[in-house]
Order: sequence, then C-alpha cells, then structure tokens
Amino acid sequence: ARKITVPDLRGRKVARGEAAIAMVTAYDYTMALLVDEAGVDAILVGDSLGMVVQGLPNTIPVTLEEIAYHGRAIQRAQPRAHVVGDLPFMSYQVSPAQAVESGGRLMKEGLFESVKLEGGQEFADHVYRLVRSGIPVMGHVGLLPQTVHAMGGFKVQGRGSEAEQRLLADARALEQAGAFAIVLEAIPPDVAARVTNALSIPTIGIGAGPICDGQVLVCTDLLGLTGGKSPKFAKRFADLGPAVVKAVSDYVSEVRDGSFPSAQHSYKPNRAAESSVIE
Ligand code: KIV
Ligand code: NA
Repeated sequence: ARKITVPDLRGRKVARGEAAIAMVTAYDYTMALLVDEAGVDAILVGDSLGMVVQGLPNTIPVTLEEIAYHGRAIQRAQPRAHVVGDLPFMSYQVSPAQAVESGGRLMKEGLFESVKLEGGQEFADHVYRLVRSGIPVMGHVGLLPQTVHAMGGFKVQGRGSEAEQRLLADARALEQAGAFAIVLEAIPPDVAARVTNALSIPTIGIGAGPICDGQVLVCTDLLGLTGGKSPKFAKRFADLGPAVVKAVSDYVSEVRDGSFPSAQHSYKPNRAAESSVIE
C-alpha cells in the first residue's frame, strides 16, 4: 500500500466526506510493525514516551535525542503510516530559529515526515518558519502537557467562552501559519466541534469528543497495558496488561516445576534415549 503523505492528511476533513484520521503513538520497532499492520494513518513518536517508556511523572525532561532514538526504531519498520515526531520541551520554545534547528535535525536524519509542537498564537511564528523551511507541522492546542506546571496539573482546557475564544484564535493562528493538522487535547466536545468547523485543516482529538477529523490515543492506553491511572478519554480497546501478567506468571510456574522447556522447545538430542535423564 502507498505511503500516507502530508497532503493526504491535510485534505482529510470529515465534513468533506473523508474518513476520520486514526493516529496512535508508538515508541519502538515491534509496536510500529503492529500498528501499521492494523492500518493506522499516522504514528506519533510522542514525548509521552517520557511517561510510558521512562516512567517520568510528566513529559518535561524528554530530550530531542530521545525522540530521535525512538524515531529510528519506528522508521526501521518502514511504516505505510505517516510518522510524526514530537518536539520536546525547550527544543523549540526559545525561538523560531531553535524550532527550525530542532525540527531540521529530526527531518535531516530521515526519522520523521513532520513534527508536532505544543502551543497556539505564541508559537505561530515558529510554525511559520518550520513550514517555510520544508518541515511540515502538526499543531497541538488545549491541554499542553509541557506546560503542566503553568496549568497546575493535567486539566480539561477551553472551558468558558473566553477560553473557547482563545482556543479558536490559537487554532486559526496555527492554520494561518501553515500547520497541516492540529491536535485538540482535553477540551469539551462542543468546543472541539466548533474549532473543527472553523478550520480547513483536520483536527485530531484526544479527549475532545467525536466531532473532530481524527483521533489519537497513546498505544499503551488503547491496548490496556497501563496499570491503574489513565485519563477518562483513554478507551481500552483491549486489556493486554492482565494478559501479559498471566503469560509471564505461567512462564514462571513452568520454569519452577520444570515443565518448560519440554522437548518441543529443545534441540534434537545427540542420544535420544538419554536426553530426559541427565545425571
Ligand atoms: O505525546 C503524545 O503522546 C501526544 C499525544 C497525546 C497527542 O502528544
Ligand atoms: Na506530546
């Protein structure tokens, strides 16, 4: 099947009769093969890897080199899906030039086909410079995990008419600057619907209700691999966590009682008759 490109995604507006975009995060080669086989449109190497892979409390410590490292693993799967790389905290905020240098580093190594950054009007210049440099940009508004301390925690955004107007202005500024799609994170569904209708580029929701042009989930949330805490919007399409625990505990039992490995999982013996009694 043909590679999914930025122009393919830019035209995906549900209101124009297009199918919604299905995006998922992935951080390694094995998962990239699996989600690509499942037919996702886009794979995001999100800075959520700080929490999912590294066990950090938030995404702030994640580095550009770490995004690159995981991007290398993803690209080795040669996915049909479009591959987006997150620009981590302090790899773009300083200036539009810093954004171009960081995005350029990821693109030049061939790791990603676009980059994503968090923020609205205040980062429109950054987006503009990236896009003019040939680096496609996915925007991200609403809940911005890199600003967790400023927000006072991970909270729903865009509540109230003032916040909604600001969100709308942010999304419009990103579109104007040349973003090809915008992630809407943790906002009321009616707000997401109005943002979606106001834009000619697709919106990709996470905790933003059904009226978006696409959805994104963190792969471990979707698969039910994360224990305990996961956000309200993180639907588990499978419950693989308990399946993993069951499989590994079966392994532990069989190692301890000696039933693993049996002949089936051993090489052919030199002297067949003696293989089961070694003294
Ligand atoms: O890092 C991430 O996983 C993200 C998505 C939740 C949009 O930015
Ligand atoms: Na992110």
